[in-house]
Amino acid sequence: MTKILVIHGPNLNLIGDREVDVYGATTLADINTGLAKRAAAAGLEVETFQSNHEGEIVDMIQRTDAAVIILNPGALTHYSIAIRDAVAAGKAPVIEVHLSNIYAREDFRHTSVIAPVAVGQIAGFGSSSYYLAFGAAQDILS
Ligand code: DQA
Repeated sequence: MTKILVIHGPNLNLIGDREVDVYGATTLADINTGLAKRAAAAGLEVETFQSNHEGEIVDMIQRTDAAVIILNPGALTHYSIAIRDAVAAGKAPVIEVHLSNIYAREDFRHTSVIAPVAVGQIAGFGSSSYYLAFGAAQDILS
């Protein structure tokens, strides 16, 4: 079965409880369930992975056999050259997602070092950012 891998970076395990005004009340478990339902309806496999550790995310990108990766690198978006290089080296296209509109926030969030090596970026739609990315992944696969 064709697989989509969804990677959630640092602190995303806390959403639903963390800065609810910025990230919304939806939990990561809710998002993962929503993605699993969409995958089941589409006949696709979805694997979800959360880590607070840069190296674990690099390992996951290197090891996966997924056809497409949906990646929310959290704060690592703004400075992780290691994740950028893993994305550039990997064979699977990567869709970058953010719950918040990073361009409407602090200046340090306006730069994504991942965006230049991603297929595209979806930001600012809350939990829907992931579902829009899932739709984009289906388009890439079809
Ligand atoms: C985030 C945006 C990042 O700037 C922040 O560090 C996060 C979450 C988002 O989904 O909006 O942890 O990636």
